[in-house]
Amino acid sequence: MTASDPEVDLDLVVSNRRMLTADIVALELTSETGAALPFWAPGAHVEMKLGNGLARQYSLCGDPADRHCWTVAVLREPNSRGGSDYIHDKLDTGATVACRGPRNNFPLEPAGAYKFVAGGIGITPMLPMIAAAEASEVPWTLLYGGRSLDSMAFRDELARYGDKVRMHPQDTGGLLDLAAELAVPEPDVAVYCCGPEPLLAAIEGHCETYWPTGALHVERFRADLPDLSGARAIEVELAQSGITVIVPADKSILDALLEAGIDVDASCEEGTCGTCEVVVLEGTPEHHDVVLTESERAGGDCMMVCVSRAQGSCLKLDL
Ligand code: FES
Repeated sequence: MTASDPEVDLDLVVSNRRMLTADIVALELTSETGAALPFWAPGAHVEMKLGNGLARQYSLCGDPADRHCWTVAVLREPNSRGGSDYIHDKLDTGATVACRGPRNNFPLEPAGAYKFVAGGIGITPMLPMIAAAEASEVPWTLLYGGRSLDSMAFRDELARYGDKVRMHPQDTGGLLDLAAELAVPEPDVAVYCCGPEPLLAAIEGHCETYWPTGALHVERFRADLPDLSGARAIEVELAQSGITVIVPADKSILDALLEAGIDVDASCEEGTCGTCEVVVLEGTPEHHDVVLTESERAGGDCMMVCVSRAQGSCLKLDL
């Protein structure tokens, strides 16, 4: 599979805006100068730096071959922390938005066949994956769940794939039956899932029990932020700087490092973008991000310092 180009900072213009459903807006983003945009591969996302100080990541859901337009689709979250409201309310056609990308934490790995499972707005990364599978004639199916048919975006685009796509609105069909869908592990079949946390937790639980390690690929855009109420202070030794920083129980490692004058890149500060990744030389991280894979987590040699902490009381970082 082709890799995305390296990520870059870009000011992009909303060249087209349209509502896909009552709560989902699609934005087409183009260069201010009309220049070609970096190539991206299915699964990639763009980070949008919003005028209200928030940064949010959205899957690219257009055609990677279109080098002049990046498309995102954004659900107005019922409990928006300000990101999706800003996009719906402030980013009209003609608005400029600072972006960084493409970044791909959810690449489409080669497989003999794919089972795509999408819940709600989790359909967005699946669209280019499906197009890629279709183009390379790899068998695939999509199970697409949503609250109701009206709430499910891209129904017209998906209709052309016929019975490879099964729409499953919850108001008439109930929850997705993952146990039936994934009852029998199949060799060389990769399962890709994106959607709300209960769906991801359910599919992880099911695949962990029945499917081979590595068969399931999920993407989250919301981290499991640590509850710091019972947290301990951590001693963080910095190998390059030769100093030790004490991270209080109520503070993130990132904040403590920045306060100590250590230069660490960061963006989302909620464990979703991967910008603050740091190499761990000693100690065992306690991961709370949604960027690292299970095997990267288990490897224990890197961590996102904006949200992750330590299993013990000490860490040594390559900073
Ligand atoms: S700043 Fe985004 S993962 Fe840490």
